[in-house]
Amino acid sequence: MSSYVTRKTPGDTAWFTHDRFGMFIHWGLYAMPARHEWIKTRELIPEEHYQLYFENFNPDLYDAKEWARQAKAAGMKYAVMTTKHHEGFCMFDSQYTDYKCTNTPAGRDLIREYVDAFRAEGLHVGFYYSLIDWHHPDFPIDPLHPRRNDPDAFEQNKGRDVHKYAEYMRNQIRELLTNYGKIDILWFDFSYSGRVGEGDKSWQKGKGKDDWEAEELIALARSLQPGIIIDNRTEIEQDLWTPEQFQPTEWQRHPETGELVVWEACQTFSGSWGYYRDETTWKSPEMLLRMLINTVSLGGNLLMNVGPTARGYFDYRAESALAVYADWMKYNSRSIYGCTMAEPEFEAPADCRLTQSVDGKRLYVHIFAYPFQTLTLKGMAGKVKYAQFLHDASELRFTEGALRRDYAGKSELEDKDLVLHLPAVKPNCLVPVVELFLK
Ligand code: GLC
Repeated sequence: MSSYVTRKTPGDTAWFTHDRFGMFIHWGLYAMPARHEWIKTRELIPEEHYQLYFENFNPDLYDAKEWARQAKAAGMKYAVMTTKHHEGFCMFDSQYTDYKCTNTPAGRDLIREYVDAFRAEGLHVGFYYSLIDWHHPDFPIDPLHPRRNDPDAFEQNKGRDVHKYAEYMRNQIRELLTNYGKIDILWFDFSYSGRVGEGDKSWQKGKGKDDWEAEELIALARSLQPGIIIDNRTEIEQDLWTPEQFQPTEWQRHPETGELVVWEACQTFSGSWGYYRDETTWKSPEMLLRMLINTVSLGGNLLMNVGPTARGYFDYRAESALAVYADWMKYNSRSIYGCTMAEPEFEAPADCRLTQSVDGKRLYVHIFAYPFQTLTLKGMAGKVKYAQFLHDASELRFTEGALRRDYAGKSELEDKDLVLHLPAVKPNCLVPVVELFLK
């Protein structure tokens, strides 16, 4: 069994750390300007103009069943979809606002269809819920707000009561965790209590757990869905630590106790969470696979994001990125599901990453740069019963002891190494995986 012990979590994270791989979905009115989900505040878009997106939002090609099919094929075992992003627009039929998808030409509860379709495909279902709300009349204007630079911002802000907004959030969380069946993940985003406006805008303050009344919000969520997994972005630690848009190089630890924690890296296919038509920094197929493998090799989960178009489908770039995962996971998912960081005794060869089954019986060597003929596993002599390529279960023969070659000098390799003998030609697999059956 894995020797790694993680800090206890209030929610049920057992299925989560087994499943490892999920789909993030960022979808809202911001798919219409198609220039990033923060577009309203980045371009200080006036309310009148942003209202055009509300009046014309009509995802006529939305087919949640197709989304779920693609997620499942990609090997994703859970999904987290935006119910409300910072723009404040609700993708579900809330009774506490008119700023919702059922009041647009969409005319339907988009979250309902997402929940039904993904659950039908056997995926766990999660909700992203933005703590930030640039539309709500009681959300105080602050350094991130689209109205922050308006000449009358101070006047606009008068009378805004953040406690009324916190109550609004509780009412919506109650709707989301009551009306849609079992919800497995609640992904809040995000706190910025340290931010303060500059100069004459010093009255604009960032927001954190006290503004959200986060203790009450979390207690409500847990009272409605006891096993639910909650992230840490209310500023109150819960189940998940959520490094974003960077590749951690070690298993994430608790900042005070140093304990290993349950963590999930969230990443994007391109440079944007929401659909961004003209953004071109789409990651290569190799990078997509390496991000997943690197993350699991360090005991983490990967939540990979798709930003659907305003017509309601995944664009060709997202579909081809998902296909990269589907092609690889079809044959190699055994090195991801139910796996974690390899035990400390095992050393990854150069250009390789290791994962190990939680039961300790199998070690997986992910080959990022295919070597010439051999792969030496240091210190592994006597530890391996059998070796094969995972994708086709073809045997890989190995010898134990240092690699000997004519006319070579004394090998500095120890006799306790194990040398895998690989075919000269790399298999037709972007990242070949060696499956080692341990003694
Ligand atoms: C950042 C982005 C936000 C996105 C989130 C996903 O907070 O600002 O738009 O939803 O990351 O983790």
